[in-house]
Amino acid sequence: MGLCFSSRSAPHSSSSFNKPQFSGSASTDSKNVGFSATTSSAGKSQFTEIASGSIDDGEGSLPLASSYSPNGQILERPNLKVFSFSDLRSATKSFKADTLLGEGGFGKVYKGWLDEKTLTPAKAGSGMVVAIKKLNSESTQGFREWQSEVNFLGRLSHPNLVKLLGYCWDDDELLLVYEFMPKGSLENHLFRRNPNIEPLSWNTRLKIAIGAARGLAFLHTSEKQVIYRDFKASNILLDGNYNAKISDFGLAKFGPSGGESHVTTRVMGTYGYAAPEYIATGHLYVKSDVYGFGVVLLEMLTSMRALDTKRPTGQQNLVEWVKPCLSSKKKLKTIMDAKIEGQYSQKAALQAAQLTLKCLEPDPKQRPSMKDVLETLESIEVIHEKSKDSKNRISNPTYHQPVRHRIVRV
Ligand SMILES: Nc1ncnc2c1ncn2[C@@H]1O[C@H](COP(=O)(O)OP(=O)(O)OP(=O)(O)O)[C@@H](O)[C@H]1O
Ligand SMILES: [Mg+2]
Repeated sequence: MGLCFSSRSAPHSSSSFNKPQFSGSASTDSKNVGFSATTSSAGKSQFTEIASGSIDDGEGSLPLASSYSPNGQILERPNLKVFSFSDLRSATKSFKADTLLGEGGFGKVYKGWLDEKTLTPAKAGSGMVVAIKKLNSESTQGFREWQSEVNFLGRLSHPNLVKLLGYCWDDDELLLVYEFMPKGSLENHLFRRNPNIEPLSWNTRLKIAIGAARGLAFLHTSEKQVIYRDFKASNILLDGNYNAKISDFGLAKFGPSGGESHVTTRVMGTYGYAAPEYIATGHLYVKSDVYGFGVVLLEMLTSMRALDTKRPTGQQNLVEWVKPCLSSKKKLKTIMDAKIEGQYSQKAALQAAQLTLKCLEPDPKQRPSMKDVLETLESIEVIHEKSKDSKNRISNPTYHQPVRHRIVRV
């Protein structure tokens, strides 16, 4: 999920949110709950907007987008299953430790099993595997991000966005149910030192970058632009064939409307990935996502974290540290991940570095669009010449637990 801080509270700890009644067409409290839910006798549930043609993105209602792109679409309404807590408890063997997939700011993520057709709990090892994210009651990330995830991801459909299957809001419990992504997050592959996991090859890194770029380009070019706001390696999930899918829409916003160039919001994101103009002014542009994409590209080239306080002073912020190396062939060699040495041509690496540099332009207007980024990455993918150069590489730092440096400014 994205970020949420002290000013947020989970619904159970706040009197300002009322739970939707999952029967008939019950409406929710008007405060920031931009949907209501209906449940049919078959147990299949759907969100419907309270105010027709509007959706609440947490900071005001905006017109519904209804657009279509060849590979994706924005549904008029989320089409999600409402799960009971006991269903999800059964699906995860009572949230047993051996089903734990990982943990983020929202809470723990468990592996679960559901019947493919009915989406009812299935025996572990049978049916369809899903990932179940459970809000931690002590989490400062909370209801608004859970709601944003449901509102955005429940309506966006694209091969490079992770699929949200449903949710649970049962008394004190908030959960989200996603398609299972067998290869986990890009972050795990780039930075975790697991001897059983092969380092990602150059070709696979490019494939992942292209998939993630397609997902972002879809969001940016949809009729009502969506700014994702939380682009980072841990939010790029990988399917069995290393197809990338963007997850976590807790911070997503609709883009500027009425000729405006930006949206002004409170500053939220992750240090190391957030664009400088956004941190400085709270002005959020579609191109702010392009900056985050540039940071992830840099992480993919170097296998070094965007921010790492264990590195020596002056090297902790990856962009500040290695940006000067991106325009020089010679210097580039010193920062490329030694584990992919020999797998790419100098030309391809240099083009990728130049693209990274453009994405990291301090002035958002100078950054390329995600459509341009995608086209450049596709042109790099067809460069096959192998490099024989193997000197002057730096070694990859050992893995340690990530320390997330959250930003929130009200
Ligand atoms: N759909 C999924 N399929 C498989 N594994 C998943 C899925 N969603 C999440 N995970 C695993 O759970 C971990 C935690 O994910 P989560 O999104 O909660 O946190 P995060 O992205 O690491 O951190 P943050 O809270 O900063 O976004 C991921 O790193 C990944 O390994
Ligand atoms: Mg995440």
